[in-house]
Amino acid sequence: MELQRRRSIALPQILATWLLLMAAYTGPAECIRRTSRFHGEDEGDGSGAVEAFKYSATACRVHTASLADFGGVGDGATSNTAAFSAAVTHLSQFASDGGGMLFVPAGRWLTGPFNLTSSFTLFLHRDAVILATREMNEWPIIDPLPSYGRGRDAAGGRYSSLIGGSNLTDVIITGDNGTIDGQGAFWWSKFHGHKLKYTRGYLIELMHSDQIFISNLTLLNSPSWNIHPVYSSNIVVSGITILAPVHSPNTDGINPDSCSNGDGAQPCPFPTDASPMDDVQLQECTYVKAISA
Ligand SMILES: *[C@@H]1O[C@H](CO)[C@@H](O)[C@H](O)[C@H]1NC(C)=O
Ligand SMILES: *[C@@H]1O[C@H](CO)[C@@H](O)[C@H](O)[C@H]1NC(C)=O
Ligand SMILES: *[C@@H]1O[C@H](CO)[C@@H](O)[C@H](O)[C@H]1NC(C)=O
Ligand SMILES: *[C@@H]1O[C@H](CO)[C@@H](O)[C@H](O)[C@H]1NC(C)=O
Repeated sequence: MELQRRRSIALPQILATWLLLMAAYTGPAECIRRTSRFHGEDEGDGSGAVEAFKYSATACRVHTASLADFGGVGDGATSNTAAFSAAVTHLSQFASDGGGMLFVPAGRWLTGPFNLTSSFTLFLHRDAVILATREMNEWPIIDPLPSYGRGRDAAGGRYSSLIGGSNLTDVIITGDNGTIDGQGAFWWSKFHGHKLKYTRGYLIELMHSDQIFISNLTLLNSPSWNIHPVYSSNIVVSGITILAPVHSPNTDGINPDSCSNGDGAQPCPFPTDASPMDDVQLQECTYVKAISA
C-alpha cells in the first residue's frame, strides 16, 4: 500500500484498500501502549493483560483496558455486548484525562451493537475478530437519519450500526489488521427475501462527530455499508481492507455523508449517490473491484 499518486474523488462502491484524507489532517503520531490502570500495572499474567505494542494514530491514550477485563469471552459464541458497553463506559471517564484505549485481544468476540466515546481508541489485535451477532433482537431500532427522514431499505426506523457513536470528538478505530465481521449473509438473504421490517445497520457509523481516524483493519461482510461518517468532520480512513462478495447488496466501502473538514456539515435531503461533501480527498486508493448497487 505504498501508492504515491493522488486520485480525484469517485463515490466509493469499492472492494479495496483506501486512504481518505481531509485537508486538515496533519499526520499520525507514533503511540506506545500504556499499562492498564483498571486491573493494575501487571502484564502477561492473565486475562486482563494487554500486549506491549506500538501503533500509529492521530492521538495516543494514557489509559488502556482490555475487553477481557470486563468479562469478555472471545470464543465466538458468548455474547460480549455487555462487556463492550461496560468497557467503553469505564474508559469514557478519561476523556479529559488523557483518553482511553480499549484493546481487543486475539479471539472471536461475538457482540451486538455498541457505541464509542470521545478521546477514545478501539484497537484490534491482528487475530481479533469482532463478530456481529445474528440475534436481531440485540440490534436496537434507532431513528432514521434526520436528513433522510426514512430508512433506505424500508420506511421508518433502522437497525443500529454495529459500532456507533454520536456527538463525539477524537475517535480512533484501528488495529494490527484485526477484523470486524458483520456476518452479512444473514442480513442479505433477509433483504433479498423482503423480510426486513427496518433498514440494515452499517458496520461503523459515527454521527455529529469530529476527528475520526479509522485504519489498519479488515472489514468483512457488512450487513450493508461499511463505514458511514455522517454530519461529521475531519475524517481519515487509511489502510482498510473491505471484503464482501461481489453481489452482496449495498456493501459500499466508505460512504462519507454530509461531512466536511471544517464546521460546514449541513443536513441534506434524501440522498442520491452524490451526498454533499466539502473538501474530501481520497488518496492512495487501490481499487480491486467495484461492487454492489
Ligand atoms: C448508541 O447511541 C444512539 C444515540 O446516539 C442510540 O440511539 C443507540 O441506542 C445507542 N446504541 C447502543 C447499543 O447503546
Ligand atoms: C448531537 O449534535 C446534534 C447537532 O449538533 C444535535 O442536534 C443533537 O442534539 C446532539 N445530540 C446530543 C445527544 O447531544
Ligand atoms: C498500520 O499500517 C501501516 C501501513 O501499512 C503500518 O506502517 C503500521 O505499522 C500499521 N500499524 C500497526 C499497529 O500494525
Ligand atoms: C489484512 O488482512 C486482509 C484479509 O486477510 C488481507 O487481504 C490484507 O492484505 C491485510 N492487510 C495488510 C496490510 O496486511
